[in-house]
Amino acid sequence: MKLAVLNGPNLNLLGTREPDIYGTTTLADIEARLRAVSRELGVELSFHQTNHEGALIDAIHAQRGVCDGIIINAGAWSHSSLAIRDALSAVAIPFVEVHLSNIFAREPERRHTVLAAGAQAILCGFGAFGYELALRGLVARLAARG
Ligand code: DQA
Repeated sequence: MKLAVLNGPNLNLLGTREPDIYGTTTLADIEARLRAVSRELGVELSFHQTNHEGALIDAIHAQRGVCDGIIINAGAWSHSSLAIRDALSAVAIPFVEVHLSNIFAREPERRHTVLAAGAQAILCGFGAFGYELALRGLVARLAARG
C-alpha cells in the first residue's frame, strides 16, 4: 500500500511557527515519525510540502495511479480552495484531512473546511500526533476495503 503525505503553506515552518498553536515539532520530525510508523504498518510513504497552490494541485494530480491514499494538511487553503477540493475529487483517491490545531475552536473563518465533505475523516487538535493517527486510521480503512 502506498500513501502520500501532502502539506500546504507555512507548514515548512513548523517548530518555530506560532508554537503556542502548532507546537514545537518540526515537519522533519513528523516525517521521521511517520516513516517509523509506516515500517511498522508495512506501507510506503511519500512526502511533499509546498507554499504554492498550483504545486499542491500538481502534487495531488501526480498521485493518480501511484498511491492508494492521501493524508493532507492543506493549511489555510483548507478553508478556501475549491481548486484543491476539485483536485482531490478529480483523482478520486481516499484522503484524510489533518490539522494540528482544533480549527473548530479557532477564529470563525477557520471553522469551515471546503475539503472535509470529500474526506474519509478529519483529524484536528492532536498536534503532530494527528498525522500518525491519520496514517493508522487510513491504512486500517483501506485494508478493510481489501
Ligand atoms: C492548520 C490550520 C489552518 O487554519 C492554518 O491556516 C494552518 C495550519 C493546522 O494544521 O492547524 O496553516 O491547517
